[in-house]
Amino acid sequence: MLRWVTLPSARRGGQVDGDPPRASSPPAPAKRHRSIELRRFAGPSAHVGALDGLRVAHLTDLHVGRVTPLAVQRDAVALTNAQRPDLVALTGDFVCHSQQHLDELTEVVRGFQAPVVGVLGNHDHWSGAKEVRRALARAGALVLDNRHTTLELRGQRLQVVGLDDAYTGHARLDEAVKGLRRDTPTLGLSHIGEEAEGLWAHGVPLVLSGHTHAGQVTLARLHELAIGRLAGHRYVHGLYGRRSGSGAVYVGAGIGASVMPIRLGERGRREVTLFELGARPGSLPEHHDEQPPLPGRKRRAPAARPRAPRGEAKKGARGRPR
Ligand SMILES: [Fe+2]
Repeated sequence: MLRWVTLPSARRGGQVDGDPPRASSPPAPAKRHRSIELRRFAGPSAHVGALDGLRVAHLTDLHVGRVTPLAVQRDAVALTNAQRPDLVALTGDFVCHSQQHLDELTEVVRGFQAPVVGVLGNHDHWSGAKEVRRALARAGALVLDNRHTTLELRGQRLQVVGLDDAYTGHARLDEAVKGLRRDTPTLGLSHIGEEAEGLWAHGVPLVLSGHTHAGQVTLARLHELAIGRLAGHRYVHGLYGRRSGSGAVYVGAGIGASVMPIRLGERGRREVTLFELGARPGSLPEHHDEQPPLPGRKRRAPAARPRAPRGEAKKGARGRPR
């Protein structure tokens, strides 16, 4: 567990000596950068008064590899840098199915001018978590595997807690939150959005996540059917929960893809998301309002239990599967 980390000045993008304070430079207006959407949101209420306009750029599911052109990855980095964030948060699935593109991954992540923190996703574990971590470390990124750290960014402390991937069974909530301070503004990272609920219970007011790619095809709300009802996700794309209440999670649409590059529908476009931590929810124009969770997978009514033949009533008398 890292208790206090100040990232080297070489990776404090836009904060070199002589630069004006970041708070005085508003981000570029929301716009599309080639095929990448830029969306903006305020942070949670818990950060109001504790942080002053700390800007976090969130990208997820880069999936560096042959399905997503390197030009798209570079565009995503350029769009992010143009916003002059204080921190870049990456929430997993850095690769697709192999270790063939780890050098490109290092090149892409090294291009961010702000400090980078991240967590791994299921594709990273399937392809080789150790090697992906190494590629990220070469780029100067900090990977939070079930642990937290406190960063000093523009003179402000931000505690960041990262869960390893839950889809492949690597998330360890108890390890991740051990020693987490309740008196320090905190941001959570998890590849799987549903894991946010466990972090909320430990006082983490906002969790950034990915994995769903927003369904990639969001026409006619197809994503909510495919990713929500069929795959069982309650958080498919965007902001869910309550930033002024029990907790919120943001599910990014991602940059890349591992199989099918197609993206159709406004919500399914590639996305960089900016969070202004310290800004009160509702105090700036946001892409959409907080959404309630989706119902998740449709549950079938339990089948009627067949009556046990006479003389076998004691077998499985408590109805438990054996
Ligand atoms: Fe992914």
